[in-house]
Amino acid sequence: MITLTVNGRTHALDVAPGVPLLTVLRNDLGLNGPKYGCGLGECGACSVLVGGVLARACTLPVGGVAGRAVTTLEGLGTRDALHPVQQAFIECQAAQCGYCLNGMIVATVALLARVPRPSDEQARAALAHQLCRCGAHLEILQAVQRAAQLMDAAAYRGIAQRATADRSDDRPELRPDAGQHDRSEALPSPPQAEPSAART
Ligand code: FES
Ligand code: FES
Repeated sequence: MITLTVNGRTHALDVAPGVPLLTVLRNDLGLNGPKYGCGLGECGACSVLVGGVLARACTLPVGGVAGRAVTTLEGLGTRDALHPVQQAFIECQAAQCGYCLNGMIVATVALLARVPRPSDEQARAALAHQLCRCGAHLEILQAVQRAAQLMDAAAYRGIAQRATADRSDDRPELRPDAGQHDRSEALPSPPQAEPSAART
């Protein structure tokens, strides 16, 4: 019996410890965000976060993550409240077939946790081993920068709300929505996709 915590929920699973985490996520827990690509740790389609660190679920024995926090694509946001990285990928239309998207999004979440404002070079390096066969690379890199903007704005709103939470009851002018400038309104539009020579 393996105890596994996935997306904040703890499961007791009757599986052998050597079974790949990806198999358990997809077959036992019905989490199909992580994709089966190569099955060899090469493509990144199966990426998940283990304790906030990027990991390849296809080559990771489930016994190795027992008791640790696993986060899949499903644990990032909801349909009504997308994670900023998910929002950015949609805004930038950063996909064609979409098969690599799980890995790209999860890897971007891991990158922005370490480097909140990555350069293009840092983004390229972080995603270098997440393979996309379609040629959506330019849009994906644009989505990383847009995600950094959105997360920056979300962090700003969180700070503003925490700073005023204790005082807003008796001072309406200090409520987060009263006189606070919402930086998301000032954000530039998502970058327009340039014609990609890679898409031929
Ligand atoms: S399916 Fe896991 S790295 Fe390719
Ligand atoms: S969008 Fe098809 S593999 Fe990346």
